[in-house]
Amino acid sequence: MDFSRLVEQRRSCRKYLPSPVEREKLQRCLQAARLSPSACNAQPWRFIVLDEKDARENLAEAACSGIYRMSKFIKSAPVIIAVCADVKSFASKAGSFVRGTNFYLIDIGIACQNLVLQSTEDGLGTCYIGWFNERKVKKALGLGKKIKIPLLISMGYPEDRHTEKDPIRRRAGGDKRKPIEEIVSYNPPAEDF
Ligand SMILES: Cc1cc2nc3c(=O)[nH]c(=O)nc-3n(C[C@H](O)[C@H](O)[C@H](O)COP(=O)(O)O)c2cc1C
Repeated sequence: MDFSRLVEQRRSCRKYLPSPVEREKLQRCLQAARLSPSACNAQPWRFIVLDEKDARENLAEAACSGIYRMSKFIKSAPVIIAVCADVKSFASKAGSFVRGTNFYLIDIGIACQNLVLQSTEDGLGTCYIGWFNERKVKKALGLGKKIKIPLLISMGYPEDRHTEKDPIRRRAGGDKRKPIEEIVSYNPPAEDF
């Protein structure tokens, strides 16, 4: 697919068909993530892919309890990816400390978007999930304290492409984007930028 079209096509998907996602496609998405750039080439991303029913349901249950129940739509997703961060790279950590910027989060964001765009190309729907119980998810996956899970990604074949009725989408402002003049300035910005 032409890149501009691919970017336009990607939309958060919160309703999935029960059909499984082929491992071949999953592998392609993970390869796209693997080829991403990262600060000091630290490659801090790790992906735990849950595509088996029991493991997935277990994780979804842990992720969406209590105040996080708004994310329970992930229960219908045939794949959930736990995006983990391994922040051991000394150079990247030192750079982050000096600059006051968490480079590993930037790296992970880039890798995830590669993954998500590849999945769009392959006809899959995805949604980033930042609102989930990380402590319980780590416990469900048997992960130690040092691993962080900044994001989950739900994935599957979309049930419905007409998602205007989706209440979460509506609450998040739908497809609305800020106008380009509001987010871009050429040369020194105006005072109100
Ligand atoms: C880092 C991040 C975290 C997000 N967390 C959630 C979430 O917890 N639940 C959810 O339904 N959508 C979540 N989203 C999806 C956004 O709501 C969505 O991308 C935004 O509203 C724009 O809509 P679009 O993706 O359909 O273009 C998240 C997106 C990002 C990038």
